[in-house]
Amino acid sequence: KKIAIFASGTGSNFQALIDAVKAGSLNVEVKLLVCDKPGAAVIEKAERASVPTFVFHPKQYASKIEFETIIMNKLQELEVDYVILAGYMRLIGATLLSAFQNRIINIHPSLLPAFPGKDAIGQAFRARVKEVGVTIHYVDAGMDTGPIIAQRAIQLSDNDSMEDVENKIHAIEHIFYPETLESLFNK
Ligand code: GRF
Repeated sequence: KKIAIFASGTGSNFQALIDAVKAGSLNVEVKLLVCDKPGAAVIEKAERASVPTFVFHPKQYASKIEFETIIMNKLQELEVDYVILAGYMRLIGATLLSAFQNRIINIHPSLLPAFPGKDAIGQAFRARVKEVGVTIHYVDAGMDTGPIIAQRAIQLSDNDSMEDVENKIHAIEHIFYPETLESLFNK
């Protein structure tokens, strides 16, 4: 499969996917990084891995339809099969949703439907739940609402700090995302 990864931030999940491809445990071609935050750390990670990038500033376009049409054309030119979201902090609009029906996947750092949206880890931490986790799901028009593909739970201990919880969740994400995509694409 040919994939494009969309990310807005640090790109630790982007890096985990690239590393899995290099190690031979995820059999995909990463054709493009799409990033809506010029200057985000993920861009350098893509350059180091020789992954082409499309970096854009949403404010430079009149509408979501306009920038998503440009992205869609690039993805079609590259014959991308799946769009993989890895910390892309923006809702996907109708243009991309209809061009890639059931072929857009997201990772979210909670056990959905609990704690959708921004700062899911902080929300869970403040709610003092005993169990947190990670969800991989298909993307629909809602915020973290699409059909669930796989989930993994993590037990917390009473003395875990916010930082401990973040570290535990990210560590699971970096293993779980490549694994889940590999079994979805190549089972
Ligand atoms: C991850 O926690 C992911 O689940 C969420 O955004 C975060 C991205 O982190 N959707 P990174 O940029 O991959 O380090």
